[in-house]
Amino acid sequence: MNKTFPILSAGEAAALVKHGDTIGFSGFTPAGACKVIPKAIAERAKVEHAAGRPFQLGVITGASTGKSLDGALAEADAVAWRTPYQSDPTLRKAINEGRTRFFDLHLSALQPTVRSGVLGPVNFAIVEACRVTPDGEITLGAGVGAANTFLRLAEKVLIELNDYLPDLTGFHDIYEPLDPPVRREIPIYTPHDRVGTATVKVDPRKIVGIVKTNTPDETGGFDAPDAVTNRIGENVADFLATQLRTGCLPASFLPMQSGVGNIANAVIGALGSNPGIPKFTMYTEVIQDAVIGLVESGKCTFASGCSLTVSKEKAAAVYKNIDYFRDRIVLRPQEISNSPELVRRLGLITVNTALEVDLFGNVNSTHVMGRDLMNAIGGSGDFTRNAHISIFTCPSVAKNGAISTIVPLVAHMDHSEHSVQVVVTEHGVADLRGKTPHERAALMINNCVHPEYRDILRAYVKLSSKGHVPQTLHNAFGMHLAFLEKGDMRKVEWV
Ligand code: COA
Repeated sequence: MNKTFPILSAGEAAALVKHGDTIGFSGFTPAGACKVIPKAIAERAKVEHAAGRPFQLGVITGASTGKSLDGALAEADAVAWRTPYQSDPTLRKAINEGRTRFFDLHLSALQPTVRSGVLGPVNFAIVEACRVTPDGEITLGAGVGAANTFLRLAEKVLIELNDYLPDLTGFHDIYEPLDPPVRREIPIYTPHDRVGTATVKVDPRKIVGIVKTNTPDETGGFDAPDAVTNRIGENVADFLATQLRTGCLPASFLPMQSGVGNIANAVIGALGSNPGIPKFTMYTEVIQDAVIGLVESGKCTFASGCSLTVSKEKAAAVYKNIDYFRDRIVLRPQEISNSPELVRRLGLITVNTALEVDLFGNVNSTHVMGRDLMNAIGGSGDFTRNAHISIFTCPSVAKNGAISTIVPLVAHMDHSEHSVQVVVTEHGVADLRGKTPHERAALMINNCVHPEYRDILRAYVKLSSKGHVPQTLHNAFGMHLAFLEKGDMRKVEWV
């Protein structure tokens, strides 16, 4: 059935949304996120609130979005509840102050959870696209996220048709598995296998309007690597080159996953320039700037991801040479890019960033001092738990040295010692595989801890001579308490 869709202003689109609706937005860190409809919804919320009427929504996304979505809606106090990953400062504040209900999910679990119905119906799918046909075939933007599931399940669909984007048809591979008890294997055996469709097909009768836009993604760009991030990147690359040389990794290498942010970008850059690392592929979640450079140079022969989270300059480089990149990049829904089944089958080397790690390898990626949400778990659990080699990186200190990122016991645990295999800081590498808790603690202190904290942590380990894990419960959070009470973990006094 062919249909002419109404062309709406952002305000007209926003007027269709009701207080209490659940919206599934496209967007993934923050590629492919909507930019004008959520802003107009935020304006509408402000008007409703000024008139004394309630106006709040349930907001589900792929992952983090830009300031026009999470930022604008949080600023207008229009988010009743939110899942999964976010990274917006205004929304973070609302969550930590208890004004927005937030619950976290592994990103691979989001689509099955939405399908299960436990989050209730999805009233609207609001998605960015670069192309829509009259029979309802949609080519998404630079991030897939969970848009295909939202589009299939939503009662109504609004589309931001973004003229800033070239025709990205051919970049996406849209595949939605069946759910248990009839689920079969996902038939991907190498990072470049394509198993789905290039577009998402929806019933055209559900598309209630199209809003035309011309706006780049609100990706922040990346800081140039500094001495610390460079050192971390080089340590990861040297470690992997040694693993190869000593036969602990197959000579052909294994596909890489790397997390979000500046450290992840620096790690990929370091892999590119290390002569001991052969050409490699990526099976990852976000494709960041450094990956684009390596695809251009041929060091990375293929990159599978969920989003093109690149700076404006790198996006321009991709769009200028679009046929080259279309053959070397595929964008998948997050339940496929992050699928535990595929991470395990492909044997990924995973590299993610921690806020803090303890002496035994437990990792906190999400909650500062065990209390305040930073971003969320994202895909780090999907990858870490199932990796061939799981690596966590972080600078050895934060807040000008007042915080050691390596502590006796993490104040919140996202990834346990059973899943975390290798820890890397700017000082070195602790390969925790095959090590007892006592041996792990010694490796962490000698190789990864900042020199100013080594004796403090050695003294901690000596407090306990009994048991399998050298842990003393009345001291385990002593360094956290020293920071909270005296502003510096170095002021800890063991009892
Ligand atoms: N305690 C308290 N604060 C800490 C800290 C610690 N142990 N470690 C870092 N911080 C602070 C930093 O000082 C910084 O504060 P600021 O914003 O006031 O400057 C802030 O936390 C962010 O630190 P930074 O080093 O810039 O982090 P990042 O941008 O490299 O991100 C994570 C690190 C952990 C927040 C981020 O990687 C994340 O959200 N991870 C979880 C999701 C994930 O791994 N996704 C990838 C899967 S594909």
